[in-house]
Amino acid sequence: MTLAQSINGWLRRVPAWTLYVVFALWGGWYFYLALTRSTGIWTNQVQGLEHVVGLLALKILIAILAITPIRTYTGINLVKFRRALGVSAFFLVLYHFLVWWFLDVQTLGRVVADIIKRPYITIGMGALVLLLPLAVTSNNLSIRKLGPLAWRRLHWLTYPAVLLAAVHFVWLRKGWQLEPLTYLAIIVALLLLRVKWRRLALALPGLSRG
Ligand code: HEM
Repeated sequence: MTLAQSINGWLRRVPAWTLYVVFALWGGWYFYLALTRSTGIWTNQVQGLEHVVGLLALKILIAILAITPIRTYTGINLVKFRRALGVSAFFLVLYHFLVWWFLDVQTLGRVVADIIKRPYITIGMGALVLLLPLAVTSNNLSIRKLGPLAWRRLHWLTYPAVLLAAVHFVWLRKGWQLEPLTYLAIIVALLLLRVKWRRLALALPGLSRG
C-alpha cells in the first residue's frame, strides 16, 4: 500500500462535519481573545479580530483550490471535505464582514458609503456576494434541483471569488507588501494549474498550429 492510499484510508474515517466544529471553535476562540483582550498581539482588538478572521477565511479558500492539484499530483483525496470547507469559508467571511460592520464602522450609512467609495472594500464585498450562491446551494437538494452540470458550473464562481479576495488583501495593505502578494501568487498559481492547456490550445487555432 502506498503512503497516499494509507492517508486516504485514514481520511475516509474522518467525517467532513468535523470541519464545521473546528472552524466554529476557531472563530469562537478568536472572538474570545478579542473580548477578553487576552492577547498582546493585536493593538486594536476589533481590527485584530477582523484581520485574523479574514486571513483564516482566505487560507480556507486557498485550501479549497489546492484539493484538485493535491489529488492529481499526490493521489491524496480530500474531495469529501470541499463542501464543508466552502461553507466554513463563507461563514467566516460573513463573520469578518459583520465584525467590520457592527464593531468597527457601526452605522449602515458608513457601511454603504465605504462599500461604494473604498475600492478594496468594494472588491471584498464582491467576493462575499459571489460566495453567497455557493453557500446557499451547498446541499444535496440544490444539486438535485440544478442538476450536477449546472451546479458544477455555478461553483466555478469560487475562482473569481478567491481572486477578488486576494486582490482585496493586496489593495488594503498599501505599498505592495510581501504577505498579501504571496497569497495572490499562490492563488494565481493554483488557478493556472486548473487551466486545461491542451484543450485551450485546441480551441484556439492560432495556438494549436504551433
Ligand atoms: C472572500 C472575502 C474576503 C476575504 C477572504 C477577506 C480577507 C481579508 C484579509 C486577509 C484581510 C487582512 C488581514 C491582515 O491585514 O492581516 C482583510 C481585511 C479587511 N477586510 Fe476583508 N476579506 C473579505 C471580504 C471582506 C468584506 C465583504 C469586507 C467588507 C465589506 C471586508 C472588509 C475588510 C476590512 C475593513 C479590512 C481591514 C482593513 C484595514 O485594516 O484597514 N472584507 N480581509
